[in-house]
Amino acid sequence: MLHEAKAAGMRVITMVTTVKKALLAEQAGSDAVVAQGSEAGGHRGTFDASQEPMGANIGSCASVPQITDHVGIPVIAAGGIMDGRGVAAALILGAQGVQLGTRFLTARESGAHPAYQQALLESTEESTRITTAFSGRPARGLRNAFMQQWEDSRTEPLPFPTQNTATRDIRSAAARQNNPDYMSLWAGQGTRLLTTGQTAGEIVASLVQDAEAILA
Ligand SMILES: Cc1cc2nc3c(=O)[nH]c(=O)nc-3n(C[C@H](O)[C@H](O)[C@H](O)COP(=O)(O)O)c2cc1C
Repeated sequence: MLHEAKAAGMRVITMVTTVKKALLAEQAGSDAVVAQGSEAGGHRGTFDASQEPMGANIGSCASVPQITDHVGIPVIAAGGIMDGRGVAAALILGAQGVQLGTRFLTARESGAHPAYQQALLESTEESTRITTAFSGRPARGLRNAFMQQWEDSRTEPLPFPTQNTATRDIRSAAARQNNPDYMSLWAGQGTRLLTTGQTAGEIVASLVQDAEAILA
């Protein structure tokens, strides 16, 4: 797949969570890697869930400098970066770029369900957990009734993406009922730093401005 994309003239950026995976991505021909720290919301580049369900969960502060020391291609830091301070910190750790997910979930253009956005805005750094309950692969989201009840049942999830398919009707029904208890509420650990009312462009402009001010 990577070679086909490259042959078609595309740039390929690979999501990685360890130095070992970053080296594999570089050797395979990736143009850059995203170093996804364990603070990150949603799924990350972890595909060995059957051997090590939750992985070592390396945070961005530990993984970014170690990955930048080991690969020659650009490293984009991700995980828990929510404002200019996070951007500046990532650059100081050696990253050449940053990737933010959670911060944009409450942007004006966001398509996230209003009940999901409300849950995000009411959450704290203690609200998320990594779970395989929704998709069969580890992903970080706000802890809710679905996650809690699944974990209490001690049921093994079906392999990815079958578990995702199996839980889809529940998640869709929850969305129709405005019920965040049974949606997948993907979120990173930085949710206290969320803002409302800004466009994605305004968020990016403020990130750049604040990071530049700090680094100056
Ligand atoms: C709603 C949501 C869905 C995501 N889905 C994926 C995904 O399918 N695959 C993936 O590699 N990363 C996924 N991510 C992780 C992002 O690519 C990114 O690494 C992460 O959002 C960065 O951390 P942050 O959320 O703390 O900003 C997702 C993130 C969010 C918030």
